[in-house]
Amino acid sequence: MSFRTRLLISFGVVVLIPLLVFGLGIRSAMSRRVTGEYERRVSALVDVIRGDIARENDRSATRLAALRGSLVGDSKFRAMVLRGEDSAYVLDYASDAMRLAGLGYLQIQDDEGRVVSSGHFRNEFGRLGPAIPPGGPTLVRGTAAEGAFLALVTSDTLSVARKPFRLVGGIVVDSAFVQRLARDPELGVGLRLPRDSTAADSAALIVGDVTLPYVDAADGPGSVEQGRIVVTRSAALLTALQRNVNLWFAAAVLVAALAALLLAGWLSTRISTPVEARIAIGDLARQVNHDIKNGLAPLRNVFRHLAQVAREQPGDLPRVFTERHGTVESSINYLETLAANYAKLSPQSERKATDVNAVVRETIGGSSAVRAKLAEGLPPVSADALVLRRVIENLVSNAVDSLDGKNGTVTVTTERGKGMVRIAVSDTGRGMTKTELDRAFNDFYTTKLGGTGLGLSIVRRLVLDSNGSLSVDTEPGKGSTFIVEIPAQ
Ligand SMILES: Nc1ncnc2c1ncn2[C@@H]1O[C@H](COP(=O)(O)OP(=O)(O)OP(=O)(O)O)[C@@H](O)[C@H]1O
Ligand SMILES: [Mg+2]
Repeated sequence: MSFRTRLLISFGVVVLIPLLVFGLGIRSAMSRRVTGEYERRVSALVDVIRGDIARENDRSATRLAALRGSLVGDSKFRAMVLRGEDSAYVLDYASDAMRLAGLGYLQIQDDEGRVVSSGHFRNEFGRLGPAIPPGGPTLVRGTAAEGAFLALVTSDTLSVARKPFRLVGGIVVDSAFVQRLARDPELGVGLRLPRDSTAADSAALIVGDVTLPYVDAADGPGSVEQGRIVVTRSAALLTALQRNVNLWFAAAVLVAALAALLLAGWLSTRISTPVEARIAIGDLARQVNHDIKNGLAPLRNVFRHLAQVAREQPGDLPRVFTERHGTVESSINYLETLAANYAKLSPQSERKATDVNAVVRETIGGSSAVRAKLAEGLPPVSADALVLRRVIENLVSNAVDSLDGKNGTVTVTTERGKGMVRIAVSDTGRGMTKTELDRAFNDFYTTKLGGTGLGLSIVRRLVLDSNGSLSVDTEPGKGSTFIVEIPAQ
């Protein structure tokens, strides 16, 4: 994994994790907000329903009070109460008064709660009316000719000829009335009454309610129970809402992740470029060191040779000097070109017709340890002479090292191939195992004290840059042959 990738990943993690935590926080806050918003709407609707019921109740109470006034001053009613006259008038009284007062329910009851006059049924006379608690709005289930119906009633009392009576009246509660209570389009309103199974709506979630006393007076006076006007919301709505929140959350996390990755990418480039440049400079320094050492080795050999001749056969000095002059000259040239190339920092090799044999001769110089078997009439190759020299130099110095100072031979062979020239550097040295060979071309792999482990990786790069190919034949204990093939011109 490259330094940049590692940086990218760690930045990604450092930026992404807080973003994810942030996103989750936002999501739960949103969820809470949505729920809170709903609770506020529900309680607002419950308040509205309470207000509506109270208003209806007041309206009914006002009408009952007006009725009470007219009933107290009604002489026919008084006559009936005192003497039992004109009972037909009294029986019809409630149904007429109910219509005139705009009420949906009206009963006049005596002090025992028996019906004196009923707005719906004439023949309810003498029966026990609904046992509603005094005052306040009460839900009453009554019967009319069409069947059972529900009313929201209130009561009032009066006395005629010292006899107490009770007025029970109010409005009809039908589905239209219930619908009018539902002001919020996303919330429903319904009734929940004892023994009423029709209203049970399983898809609806009850989120609020208004309780009212309820008297089921369809058969007889009944007793006070509890009825509820409930506020509902559909479960589907809640799921849809939750899905929306989740969708937004996913989108937010995705966008954040993308932004984080871009940021991480940008930051890692900003940081890694200088670091990588430092690493590259380190590599370059090692390579310069390696190349210069290679260039100095023949010079050191020649100088030692000359020193030896000067000591032992000073007379031969001019002859030997002339012999080795070429080696010194070419080594100096090599170092000069090397320096020039490094000065340009990106060594631009110059491909031109190059005589391979000449380069081999220059490279091994007069070294007695290295034999050359050079084929006659080789075509020139298309390569940079300096590059070729660096390749051969590296291979030869590895081959010499492989002898481990023992007896053995190092041979450089050249031969003509198909459209190319083959250069083989072979030794009878220690050879390599498969594992050693696998690692030999890795940067910095070395088995030598003071080795850089860069030689072979440089060789491979230079050969490939010259459109050539490289192969190795090696056997532990027997020796190795490195074969370089360079295209002919
Ligand atoms: N001809 C060879 N015979 C046996 N082993 C070799 C041969 N050439 C290379 N190797 C092995 O491959 C390793 C890597 O070689 P490479 O040229 O890359 O680095 P080096 O020679 O160790 O160091 P440097 O080139 O800086 O002197 C060597 O250390 C050696 O173990
Ligand atoms: Mg080497």
